[in-house]
Amino acid sequence: MTVMRDEQARFLAATTFDRNVVVTASAGTGKTTLLITRLMHLLVKSPEATPLSQVVALTFMNKAATEIKIRLRECLESVLAPDDSLAARELWDRYRLSAADLRTRYHFSADELQDRVEAALGELENSQIGTIHSFAAHLLRLYPLEAGVDPRFTPDEEFVFDDFFTREWREWLDGELGGAGGRQESWKRVLRATDLAGLELFAKALVNDLIPLDALKNQLGGELAPTLRSWLQQKQQRARELMPASRDEGRKLRQLETLLAAAGRLFGHVLSGGPAGMGELDAELRTLLEQKDGGAKPPAGWSEEEFAEASGLVRTAKAVIETDHAFFGDLLELLEPFAARCRRRFLDAGYVRFDGLLARARDLLKTHPHVRARLKRQFKAILVDEFQDTDPVQYEILLFLAEHEDRLAETWPSVLLHPGKLFIVGDPKQSIFAFRRADIEAFQRVRQMVEDQDGLPLTLTRNFRSHGTILAAVNQVFDRLIRERPGLQPRYDPLEADPDRKTGAQTQGVELRLVTPALHGEEPATLSAEEGVEAEAEAVARWLKQEVIGKEVLIERDGRRRPVDPGDVALLFRTFTQSWEYLGALRRHGLPYVAEGERHFYQRQEVIDLVNLVCCVQNPHDQVALLGLLRSAVGALTDREVMELVAQGPLDYRGNGPSGLDAHPKAAYLKSLYAVLASLHRDCPLRPLPDALDLIFERLPVLELAAASSHGEQAVANLWKVRALADDLVAQPGMTLAGFVELLKARLADPPDESESGLAEETSREAVRIMSVHKAKGLEFPIVILVGLQAGTKPPYEPIQVQQDWSTGTLGLRLGDHCAFRGPDATAESRQFPGLDHGRNRGGSDRRFHHEDGHSRRSRQASQGRTQEEGRRAASRSQGV
Ligand SMILES: Nc1ncnc2c1ncn2[C@@H]1O[C@H](COP(=O)(O)OP(=O)(O)OP(=O)(O)O)[C@@H](O)[C@H]1O
Ligand SMILES: [Mg+2]
Repeated sequence: MTVMRDEQARFLAATTFDRNVVVTASAGTGKTTLLITRLMHLLVKSPEATPLSQVVALTFMNKAATEIKIRLRECLESVLAPDDSLAARELWDRYRLSAADLRTRYHFSADELQDRVEAALGELENSQIGTIHSFAAHLLRLYPLEAGVDPRFTPDEEFVFDDFFTREWREWLDGELGGAGGRQESWKRVLRATDLAGLELFAKALVNDLIPLDALKNQLGGELAPTLRSWLQQKQQRARELMPASRDEGRKLRQLETLLAAAGRLFGHVLSGGPAGMGELDAELRTLLEQKDGGAKPPAGWSEEEFAEASGLVRTAKAVIETDHAFFGDLLELLEPFAARCRRRFLDAGYVRFDGLLARARDLLKTHPHVRARLKRQFKAILVDEFQDTDPVQYEILLFLAEHEDRLAETWPSVLLHPGKLFIVGDPKQSIFAFRRADIEAFQRVRQMVEDQDGLPLTLTRNFRSHGTILAAVNQVFDRLIRERPGLQPRYDPLEADPDRKTGAQTQGVELRLVTPALHGEEPATLSAEEGVEAEAEAVARWLKQEVIGKEVLIERDGRRRPVDPGDVALLFRTFTQSWEYLGALRRHGLPYVAEGERHFYQRQEVIDLVNLVCCVQNPHDQVALLGLLRSAVGALTDREVMELVAQGPLDYRGNGPSGLDAHPKAAYLKSLYAVLASLHRDCPLRPLPDALDLIFERLPVLELAAASSHGEQAVANLWKVRALADDLVAQPGMTLAGFVELLKARLADPPDESESGLAEETSREAVRIMSVHKAKGLEFPIVILVGLQAGTKPPYEPIQVQQDWSTGTLGLRLGDHCAFRGPDATAESRQFPGLDHGRNRGGSDRRFHHEDGHSRRSRQASQGRTQEEGRRAASRSQGV
């Protein structure tokens, strides 16, 4: 029965052309496949086939977009293949497409079909099948004048911007804090409450093109926004209603009641004086709300529900009282001119940041009716995959484009959609880009919008990706963990296995492997965290070598059996920090691997800094490298200090440095740094390459500084990767420190693409794949190993935030402990920046689960127990699995 419904839903999704369609379904249920099936129908259908040039098909990641293109090409080619060929059979099995079916359905001849297919193939390379960012860039290039960009602009994925910002910030700061700056008093006030590093991060957040600076100024300085006003009124009203009637009888109030009354007064105060008036709050009220709480149990006469609601109101009041508008007012007054200037200058330099692409494309459509009208006519079909990762600004772009041709709405909520133009598929449970503002509430709002306008909502339940045994485990775990919470956590729909599935690893299911140390006598040995990781890495590699690769059997689609190749195995990491140990273990066991995620590796600051350092160590005459090192985190010199140093003599770390070094403000530090460099120059060339790098890491705090930088985890992993490269190269003849330096310099000058391990090609079956769980999204492997499950996750707390809430348009601000009064969006409120309802939101974000299915026909998990006892605990925990 469900199979029938599932088939029916797939059929409707692929062939309903007069209504908009939203498909919501879990991982591996064939959403992307379905999108391609629909695309095929659109391209060939009769009457009114849609040429590929009038189609936009979008997804979030480059890789996924390329995948769609490749799969579409395969389908187009297969539909021309003979009916009894393997390609044609596959096409029917997966996509429910065949030449014969299309011909009967649309009443055309084989020649007509061929013409349409060939036309589509011809347009494929220039089609708008890509990421939303590439599409936004395309729109800006079509209308550079209206979009206010140089038509030859370069989209920048933050690599150019980071540097640019640092330079701009320093220059501006010099002017502001130098004698000529005219705002000393404001600066003093702000710097009493925060430090320069915090300010810099905050300024950087303000430079983001998605932040409307004028709206922010209004929000801070002006009246309460209407959404905030009505929300506060509601809270005030509830506080009044909850006060027990006995209060009027002169009875002494209990603590909760006192607090509730105080909360009501506070809400009233903000409603009349605005958030900026909080400074004049009477001290007694402030102390009360800051220091007291309403207890853990309902007082006599209060029901549990009333108590919970009253406590919630008190918490809200406590959060409101924490807000500090005067501080942010000062801050914005200081930083707004800088933010505006920095944005303008970056644009003038010919760059548009990634967020800028979106913000500008949205503004282009929103504020230029003739452009929107023309683009609406040009694009007849819009298909979006991974809709849950599409963020609110992107929704706006898509909604404006999908608008009815005869309409022109001013804002996105009032858009009337063109019937049949929009096709979206997604799975809110898989939303992995919360940090990029993707938001379940937004997803649900758009889906509701489509449904309310006669759209067709569909769901799929049958999963084709994983074995029933894996799905059973996944269902069991997630059914328990995921509890529906409106706007925050969607319901868990169990996945159904494909009853016809015959492929995959012979041994099916989920295995939990525990790594425990050997017993020494009666006492279980204990392992440090590092030793635990080492032990697990070793155990995983040994297990792969001895039991999996070449030993386990795989059943292919055509029924053939073959032994498992290294490329059939994927090792997934929650974070990349510890991958180094695993790579080392794989190497020791002679297992080839390829690690993902190295694009731009050689453009990363920490890698450049390390290369400079190694160059310096190897060649004391390399003044450019030394200069780079001095300006890096290790040298920590400002440009001015570098200038002073250069003025005192040639840059050379040998001997005691130049004679005038003593006069330098950082003389003591420079001398010690020079001494370390000289010692490394002496000792490194005598050691094997990897040991030389270890020595550098030992004598200078390179790793520690990287760990402390923003994206610290990634930075450390990148440095380990340079170290891994040294390991890989050590066996090559003549690979000395000098050779290594040459190779690194060459790579800096001309970075190689993507995969970097150098041991195997990405697509070959010869290498085990190493990647983060996020990178593995949508990929499929017969055997998947999740490693390092014992490691904790990062707390979702970011000390600095400037963000706009899509639903209410209000902006949230946070800098360290300071936060500004912020909107009451009902849902994911402050995953990003705790403002109001702080406690509740934290809970919400913690309880929201990221869910993906096992990716595989057979999934294995390795977990390391630090002691026997802990091992047993982990094992019993796993019995649910
Ligand atoms: N109707 C079908 N019959 C048989 N196999 C299918 C069918 N649809 C999809 N598949 C196969 O199932 C696997 C998962 O499909 P697909 O990638 O389209 O799922 P998805 O829902 O997009 O997954 P994700 O949520 O990870 O994006 C693929 O290997 C695909 O070839
Ligand atoms: Mg998909």
